[in-house]
Amino acid sequence: MNDEQRVSEALAAIEAAADADALEAIRIAALGKQGWISAALKSLGAMPPEERAKAAPAIQAMRSQVADAIAAKKAALDAAELEARLASETLDLTLPAPEAPKGSVHPVSQVMDELAEIFADMGFAVATGPEIEDDWHNFTALNMPESHPARAMHDTFYFKPSPLQGRGLGEGDVSTSPDSPRPPAPSPEGEGERRMLLRTHTSPVQVRTMMSQGAPVRIIAPGRVYRSDSDATHTPMFHQVEGLVIDRGIHLGHLKWTLETFLKAFFEREDIVLRLRPSYFPFTEPSVEVDVGFALENGKRVLGGNGDEPGHGWMELLGSGMVNRRVIEMSGLDPHEWQGFAFGVGVDRLAMLKYGMDDLRAFFDGDVRWLRHYGFSPFDQPTLSGGIGAQISAGARA
Ligand code: PHE
Repeated sequence: MNDEQRVSEALAAIEAAADADALEAIRIAALGKQGWISAALKSLGAMPPEERAKAAPAIQAMRSQVADAIAAKKAALDAAELEARLASETLDLTLPAPEAPKGSVHPVSQVMDELAEIFADMGFAVATGPEIEDDWHNFTALNMPESHPARAMHDTFYFKPSPLQGRGLGEGDVSTSPDSPRPPAPSPEGEGERRMLLRTHTSPVQVRTMMSQGAPVRIIAPGRVYRSDSDATHTPMFHQVEGLVIDRGIHLGHLKWTLETFLKAFFEREDIVLRLRPSYFPFTEPSVEVDVGFALENGKRVLGGNGDEPGHGWMELLGSGMVNRRVIEMSGLDPHEWQGFAFGVGVDRLAMLKYGMDDLRAFFDGDVRWLRHYGFSPFDQPTLSGGIGAQISAGARA
């Protein structure tokens, strides 16, 4: 085969090359170190000068002819590959971006936020106290001394006595600071009263707030509480919100108005009717249990309306009363000057009533499917005017 034939054969192969690999193989065979064109170029070196001058142009021409053909074919293959990719990879830039997963707000947190909003409008601050409480704040200071039968309803979890107790440590929150302008507040007396336990209600925050800030007081205290109870409507841990108002001349009428205003705002219904029933709590006197009227609609209880009407009923909602003067006294205030009311309500129960859940245990199972269904968007605001209620009813209209 002479050079001319080799060139035309190479050009045909280049033309026929299906991809970059095939083309590269041809390039190596012709122009690589061991390639036949390279060999021809090398042979020039061994030629006498006149012969070389005659042969060189043909060999150079052969080399550039093949190299140019390879470069042109490579450009054509690259362009074809780009075309193919553009045709197969269609990107629709008008599609919405995939949504990033976001968490949801637990109904208990949601309801606590709603309560804080509602009571903030009435001038209440939010107070907190420890969940690991001492016996004195949880019981004794609330007029439930050690042998009091009312303690039976507040069975809880007790801690083993700490070796630090009784040596002036572990009771720091109990005594008032030395520069307090108020008279020295009472403090736990006996060993038993220093015993630590999981608080059974948020009422000890009443005592702590009166002791730490004096009067007047206008607070709500939301938080976790504990009792040895477990069934569909009771869990060993649940949530309460305490309310406390201490001022001069406070009476039951203030309590009733406050609860009525709060419940109407919370349930977003003007037709909420309250029934105040005489009751008993050691820390309030008089004590009132508050019921709300409901109507039965398709077998379901719907809050609103007078519970005495036919087809209606009353549902027990919360405990309240005028703060017992002994509690005010034990909290370091003079009951002749300061009076007040207090109430305590289950946050989980409020959430169940407002948002329609029926098993309390599901609140604490941590099942994300339940949370996705009943949880709230972290971007919703728990306000009354533009918040959850408005959005729910807007959604219902849409
Ligand atoms: N602490 C009471 C309970 O948990 C509720 C309550 C609070 C009653 C304040 C009256 C006043 O049962």
